[in-house]
Amino acid sequence: MDRPRVTIFDTTLRDGEQSPGCSMNVQEKLRLAHQLDRLGVDVIEAGFPIASDGDFEAVQGISAAVRRPIIAGLARACTGDVDRAWQALQGAAHPRIHVFLATSDIHLKYKLRITREQCLEQARDAVRHAKSLCADVEFSPEDATRTDVAFLCQVVEAVIAAGATTVNIPDTVGYSMPEEYGQLIRTLREKVAGIDKVTISTHCHNDLGLAVANSLAGVQQGARQVECTINGIGERAGNAALEEIVMAMRVRPDRYAYEAGVASEHLFASSQILAEITRVPVQPNKAITGRNAFAHEAGIHQDGMLKNPLTYEIMTPQSVGVPDSRLVLGKHSGRHALALRCEQLGHQFERRELDEVYRRFVVLADRIKKVQDSHLLELIQDVVKGNASNSDAPSSESKKFPPAAVALPLPRSAVAAAGANANESHPAQVSAGAGQAQAQPGPAPTNWFGGGVPAPIADHHGDQEDYLWGV
Ligand code: KIV
Ligand code: ZN
Repeated sequence: MDRPRVTIFDTTLRDGEQSPGCSMNVQEKLRLAHQLDRLGVDVIEAGFPIASDGDFEAVQGISAAVRRPIIAGLARACTGDVDRAWQALQGAAHPRIHVFLATSDIHLKYKLRITREQCLEQARDAVRHAKSLCADVEFSPEDATRTDVAFLCQVVEAVIAAGATTVNIPDTVGYSMPEEYGQLIRTLREKVAGIDKVTISTHCHNDLGLAVANSLAGVQQGARQVECTINGIGERAGNAALEEIVMAMRVRPDRYAYEAGVASEHLFASSQILAEITRVPVQPNKAITGRNAFAHEAGIHQDGMLKNPLTYEIMTPQSVGVPDSRLVLGKHSGRHALALRCEQLGHQFERRELDEVYRRFVVLADRIKKVQDSHLLELIQDVVKGNASNSDAPSSESKKFPPAAVALPLPRSAVAAAGANANESHPAQVSAGAGQAQAQPGPAPTNWFGGGVPAPIADHHGDQEDYLWGV
């Protein structure tokens, strides 16, 4: 049976960028936008064009370069902002103008200094203007969760009548509780005329650590778009984390029977690329993409894992793109293995660039024996920047990018000896059945979870290339 589709609206480049220390330049935004495209998000909020020339250029550049997803530009509810957003979105294949205006009494009184009536009129006028330019218009009543519910219904009804096609309900200050947020979505669906013609969206902040729970509660009550960010970055405590939303739906379809069009095997690389660009590392215990997310330290856990990974893992590392920790990179590794690891860390190289990465890698491997992801990322940085110095030694920067390796590299033979079925598709096919993540189906060789090892890259450049495959 077809599951309802939930639109994944990524706002890493807009709300995420508002996170302290996370600002990105135009080139960096473009790079991340391409990765978000690869990841399969439905909407990329590329920026807030009136905010700065850099933001404008980023929205313009992403509109021209990234053609599959919808590209959204943010605008306050006024003509100048809407026009500027539309100007930046001109080249987009699928443009969306996202208009917002605060609706809570606190914001109206202290920030905007307008009455509810003025707010209603301003929201309606701005959406009407946006609609005259662009068919796809989203409206967000900022601080919706602290807005008088009857007034919120009135505003939402007015913007739908004015042409909004998506209505987003922000928990701007991360104040709501999951039941309460779900109830708000339900109330809007019950009370607002025309709501069945538009997409309801969630936009939850994480001030009480409930952004993901609130977003999922909203989806359960009928929201069909989730606004989220890679690594959960965003204002203050951040936004709902994209990778957590996607994997919650994938691992527990018995509870959240919804479909997102995201290719989960690109989640880890997306997280790494963002961390690399912003130089804000992922917290080690971050769900899904933290370096400890698939590590097993305790003896009892390791014993369980050796007997059967199902004992302590609800999804495979491969299903979210965490590199196979058994593929140790050392001086005997070839270009092939190196290229694969680079790809898993979010870097795809042309032949000549790869040659240069490989040359430096061999020098480094000769010195330090085992090359960690952190070293590799630094080395890649140097090559990308064309920085010839510092090519063969890990710098202090490596501390910023600790290796993502699983702490328990269990050889397949150990699993087999312990009686586990190494080819079992972990953990999707156990009794919780429909409820768990599918490992990527793939040709032999399989890894020790039974998931497919990513297919070898077509051209081989050396004799060492296949050393590590099928270990
Ligand atoms: O948190 C918020 O209210 C926002 C809006 C601009 C959508 O980011
Ligand atoms: Zn926000």
